Amino acid sequence: MSAAHSHDSLAIDGGTPVRTRPWPAWPRVDEAEWVKVIEPRLREVYLSHVEGLPGPRAHGFAAEFARWCGVEWGVMTPHGTDALMAAVAGALDLDGLRDPGEIIAPAYTFIATASAPLAVRCQVALADVDPETYTLDPTAVEALIGPDTVGIVAVHLGGQPADMTALGEVARRHGLALIEDCAQAHGAAWRGRRVGGWGDCGAFSFQSSKNLTCGEGGCVTTDDFDLYERVMSFIDVGRRPHGERWEYPRLGWNYRPSEYLAALLTARLPSVTSDLERRADNAAYLSGLLSPVDGLDAPCLAAGATSHAYHLYMMTYRAEAFGGRSRDAFVAALGAEGIPAMAGYTQPLSEQPALAELRQQYPGVLRVGDLTATREVCAHSVWLPQSLLLADTWEMDDVATAVGRIQRAWTR
Ligand SMILES: Cc1ncc(COP(=O)(O)O)c(C=O)c1O
Repeated sequence: MSAAHSHDSLAIDGGTPVRTRPWPAWPRVDEAEWVKVIEPRLREVYLSHVEGLPGPRAHGFAAEFARWCGVEWGVMTPHGTDALMAAVAGALDLDGLRDPGEIIAPAYTFIATASAPLAVRCQVALADVDPETYTLDPTAVEALIGPDTVGIVAVHLGGQPADMTALGEVARRHGLALIEDCAQAHGAAWRGRRVGGWGDCGAFSFQSSKNLTCGEGGCVTTDDFDLYERVMSFIDVGRRPHGERWEYPRLGWNYRPSEYLAALLTARLPSVTSDLERRADNAAYLSGLLSPVDGLDAPCLAAGATSHAYHLYMMTYRAEAFGGRSRDAFVAALGAEGIPAMAGYTQPLSEQPALAELRQQYPGVLRVGDLTATREVCAHSVWLPQSLLLADTWEMDDVATAVGRIQRAWTR
């Protein structure tokens, strides 16, 4: 139940918060689930003497997850970053040493979208995003294609599927690999097909904030058997899948996951679908509540998106409608009211110190396109975490109440 507030001063100014009740914790913890489901599976791994190689549970989970995505093959890894490295290496058939060329990725994303291709020796070009959907703008990608471009990494940011139709066409026209960064988008779908199956391959993360988690983990998905075999080799020190233990036909690395993680993911996979539906229902309800609010736009659903995974509920804030108060002041005021909001990525990836320095030291390793829309999004977005959307629907009212209260106080 929301805490009653006796007067209307904002919580950040010493008033009573709209909400003191905690939001659902993530990862979800449930004593009964531990006893009935999780503990027996972890115990079984422990007693089996098989905690790693040959990885029967990791292979089993990857196959099950791939099926859930509507894709033929899956390869589990210890992190999403490793999955993305393996996906890029697999899609481009890298031998570990040659200069593969350049990957085009969005400038509004998590650092791993760029650092993973860089780690497998690619150069990176950062392109603008669509100002409405925050995902890679196919026109900006096409404008940025150069003689060295070999692939595109599309990010389904915050659970919003990127425009896989247009990006697929660009990739086909220019003979480029198309890799999906699905780290934030388990179950998102474009034109009825889940992400991870649109490009040559997809890379997922199961890191602790993600919509399916085991603390740290990742998975590559693909319909291409040869690509699957290359990824399997990449993560298993170059071994042929199911081949000889001491024989290494390719150069590879050890990105094999622990069996404990696979057991945990297998136990949690069944609840991903109902969580996905619950987030979507609550997001729709919340967007309805926020639609009359001037200066705070709810996230849109891209034209071809048939399922948004709502890893993030990404709003756009306009200070003019809130008495000129900054986005950061709004995020702080929401936090004080008991609404866990974030500003998210506040600068284009190219301006992160690591990448800015890289660009200075090694010109040619990082190209940057026109980032007009990315800068706008960086300046105005306000995120709510996916776990908030797992609360009861009536609890979404607290978000709208807090927003209304802040706006009234700042525009009086
Ligand atoms: C868009 C994106 N790509 C890649 C990753 C990397 O995943 P991980 O943290 O599991 O390495 C993340 C996770 O934070 C992400 O959000």
